[in-house]
Amino acid sequence: MTINLRKIEFFNREQEKEEIINILKTEPRVVNFIYGPINSGKSTLIENLIENLPRDYIVFYINLRERMISSYNDFIEILFEYEFEEEKKIKKAKELIPGVIEGVKMLSGIPISTKVFEKIFAEEKPKNAFRCIMKVIEEIKRKNKIPVLIIDEMQKIGDVKVNGLLIYEVFNFFIRLTKEKHLCHVFAISSDSLFIETVYADAKLSGRCRYLLVDDFDKETAKKFLGKYGFSVKEQNIAYNYFGGKPLDLSNLVSLSGGSNIKKIADDGISERMYHLRDMLDKLLYVKINISSDGENIPVKREKLIEVMRMFEDTGEIKDINISRAEKRYLINENILFIDPIRNIIKPQSKLDLVAIRDVLDEVEKSGKTRRLNKR
Ligand SMILES: Nc1ncnc2c1ncn2[C@@H]1O[C@H](COP(=O)(O)OP(=O)(O)OP(=O)(O)O)[C@@H](O)[C@H]1O
Ligand SMILES: [Mg+2]
Repeated sequence: MTINLRKIEFFNREQEKEEIINILKTEPRVVNFIYGPINSGKSTLIENLIENLPRDYIVFYINLRERMISSYNDFIEILFEYEFEEEKKIKKAKELIPGVIEGVKMLSGIPISTKVFEKIFAEEKPKNAFRCIMKVIEEIKRKNKIPVLIIDEMQKIGDVKVNGLLIYEVFNFFIRLTKEKHLCHVFAISSDSLFIETVYADAKLSGRCRYLLVDDFDKETAKKFLGKYGFSVKEQNIAYNYFGGKPLDLSNLVSLSGGSNIKKIADDGISERMYHLRDMLDKLLYVKINISSDGENIPVKREKLIEVMRMFEDTGEIKDINISRAEKRYLINENILFIDPIRNIIKPQSKLDLVAIRDVLDEVEKSGKTRRLNKR
């Protein structure tokens, strides 16, 4: 039996694309951070943009998702795509550096020779690695091309140390490329909203960064997307009520259901999330959980956690004001909530998470009542 899964095409994102294209048309002055909830389509948007860029742009797209990064050398290996076949690497470097770049638009690592790489690898000095990248970028500029550096899953180097935190060295380099030398467009992507919050709060980066939100589709876009794949208006409404505008969920729905079984597919997603939430609340009855903030460990309290969850009983989005810090950060860390520090709001990562929060709260309420009745 052959199953014909539907091919899903890239949809919409006109506004976000226009914003990024406008940035690419002007001189680089700030570091761009692309952020948004999990699976909102950040990487897909960037990949689509790269595909459609004119040949004047040379893009380095470094995705840190694929590998474990626990040391500076792990990072360097990905940055220079060390595992890439030597022969192809030399060919790429030759194409890129001495002249003709025709045909090469995107590279997933900075092309340098193995000899230089080995030197950089042994030295463990980020400044030397960055100097090397700077040279490649300057070479591209000299050929009248526009270099663009994109790092996806930036938070993965958040804790890596090399005589201090690597991330600060990377940010300094980014600032040098943009604000100081106007050499290269820089985009850092992350779906870790606590990471974005830390960056946003960092006084050293203030005024040197721009933040671009790639959120889930709004209602109208989500319905149009489903309509394109034959969902009736009724089915579109049912689907939106369960899944909101999450591109991943909507794409899965199109490939799996085609309009039928929407409720069953949603219920599976909700059950999984409810299990996670119940387990979290149960664990807190027995185990002490701490969350670290600014070098201190703060305890997570079950009652306070429920209080934070209750804030979503009647709304899908709350202002980030006076919310108990440990419990808030715990729920964000567990990928249940998303924090948008720029708009100062907090919301569940997806509509399915919101429904799961409400259903688990109902259970907590009911079990509380039963306990009280049994006590009488
Ligand atoms: N504009 C779009 N049109 C159609 N499908 C999309 C679009 N954006 C995202 N998707 C679907 O959603 C899935 C998840 O998107 P993607 O991986 O880009 O999200 P992300 O925000 O980068 O996720 P993460 O938070 O894990 O980094 C894609 O594999 C694709 O199926
Ligand atoms: Mg991504």
